[in-house]
Amino acid sequence: MTVGIVGAGQLGRMLALAGYPLGLDFLFLDPAKDAPGGRVAPVLHGLFTDRELLAQLARRSEVLTFDWENVSVEALRALAGSAIKSPVGRGKRRTQDERRTRSARICPPIPALATAQDRVSEKRLFERLKIPTTRWRAVASRSQLERAIREIGLPGVIKTRRLGYDGKGQAVVRTPEDAERAWQEFGSVGLIYEEWIPFDCEVSIIGARSRRGEVAIYPLNGNVHAQGILRLTRAPFGPPRWQRLAARYLERVLAHFHYTGILTIEFFVRGGRLIANEMAPRVHNSGHWTIEGAVTSQFENHLRAILDLPLGSTRPVGYSAMLNLIGSMPPPAAILAHEGVHLHHYDKEPRPGRKVGHCTIVEPTHLRRDRRARQLLRELAPGIRIP
Ligand SMILES: Nc1ncnc2c1ncn2[C@@H]1O[C@H](COP(=O)(O)OP(=O)(O)O)[C@@H](O)[C@H]1O
Ligand SMILES: [Mg+2]
Repeated sequence: MTVGIVGAGQLGRMLALAGYPLGLDFLFLDPAKDAPGGRVAPVLHGLFTDRELLAQLARRSEVLTFDWENVSVEALRALAGSAIKSPVGRGKRRTQDERRTRSARICPPIPALATAQDRVSEKRLFERLKIPTTRWRAVASRSQLERAIREIGLPGVIKTRRLGYDGKGQAVVRTPEDAERAWQEFGSVGLIYEEWIPFDCEVSIIGARSRRGEVAIYPLNGNVHAQGILRLTRAPFGPPRWQRLAARYLERVLAHFHYTGILTIEFFVRGGRLIANEMAPRVHNSGHWTIEGAVTSQFENHLRAILDLPLGSTRPVGYSAMLNLIGSMPPPAAILAHEGVHLHHYDKEPRPGRKVGHCTIVEPTHLRRDRRARQLLRELAPGIRIP
């Protein structure tokens, strides 16, 4: 059975690696000739907007899923539509032709992808589902920006509504001059202005929902970012009350979309309140620790969920810390010299700010985990501190 994956980045590659023991095959679509997934499965090379290639991927797969959510929703709707137009009547055998035109199921559901592509739709969804979020305004003109700043106040953050990741497409606004600079830089596309949250910490929750509605939720991740890029995740993290709150919010979104697959929500924590920041309709960087640190990894559970298999246990097997390797890969021997460190090398060209790998430790206590995480940070990410 073949799973088609749109995007052959490290997330796609880890999905494939998790699927081989289950007897699955994979096919990617990606514009990059040297995409990390290409080392482990075949790739259709072309743009994510290429309808013909998307259709080909869908024809050759049982189910279509994503390691990159910014795929044209229109193109996906057209694909889903063509799948409906060629139904196979009950009792009829599929002809050769019908088999050729059938199209894969798309998971997660297209409305969830569409919502996660646009920060404004995301905020509206959180509000509709009574999930606390930052105060925000959509901004499409300079006067709307001025008004948003008047109503929400300073400091705040300007973000592009679409296509932002790893802190790209956003700027902190502390003064009217900052606002002017951000407008010059980003004003040509739709924006959102939101309040700056002086958070105590950041957390994320990851969970899976299967086609039949079974739900499995991982322990909470405590995340440390620098320049908008995730640097360190620790899990399990935080008191049981945060876990309960985050899980409740996640379940609301899963149920709302009749979701299939892994979904992630990121939160700011301030004074014991969880404030939703954004969601990702896919496996998430803050869940990489689950490969070694949980009974079933987020990657395997995503595959189980979209293939309607029973979900695996999300129980942690210890206290994990995951460190992103950013920019360039340190010598692997130096990392592996640390006892018990698991290294994931994405085979990517070095570039400032680029995630080129990660490493994970799993320890029997949270104190030991934090001590070892500090030691690894000193060596591999000097300047990043555990708060
Ligand atoms: N309103 C905010 N208040 C405080 N910090 C923020 C705010 N928005 C973003 N950040 C910081 O920037 C990081 C990246 O922003 P995010 O909205 O998650 O975008 P991305 O899609 O790049 O992950 C966050 O994890 C947080 O550390
Ligand atoms: Mg984020």
